[in-house]
Amino acid sequence: MRTNSLRASLAGAVLLALACTGAHARDAAAGRAKSQVCMVCHGPVGVSTTPDAPHLAAQPAIYVAAQLRAYRAGTRKHEVMGVIARTLTDDDIDNLAAWYASIQIEAEAPR
Ligand code: HEC
Repeated sequence: MRTNSLRASLAGAVLLALACTGAHARDAAAGRAKSQVCMVCHGPVGVSTTPDAPHLAAQPAIYVAAQLRAYRAGTRKHEVMGVIARTLTDDDIDNLAAWYASIQIEAEAPR
């Protein structure tokens, strides 16, 4: 009896986790719209326009999302990015990450 109810609640937890993952948007178009505030430093297509800001174009979504969550949590420290990241919801972060990951870049080695 106890085992059964434990199993049932574990199954419930797994379903809840799956539902939460599904609810996260990952919508590149929404991310693009949200990236208006990022453009000043990271450029309109993620190629930075300020020398101290890294390029974001074509970065894997998993990396961009992890960095934004780290700034938001304060585990990665940067005054400006910390302030900006604290205004972002989980959906914003996933959408922004999807947007930057969707940008295509080409790299060329120096001749
Ligand atoms: C005022 C300038 C500025 C704005 C606006 C800005 N950033 Fe940044 N961003 C920076 C700088 C500078 C860094 C490097 C910080 C560091 O050294 O950790 C950075 C770092 C990052 C990183 C880490 C990149 C890496 O290679 O590790 C991500 C991701 C990022 N920004 C996303 C965003 C997003 C998304 C927005 C908009 C919601 C945004 N930034 C707005 C200046 C800015």
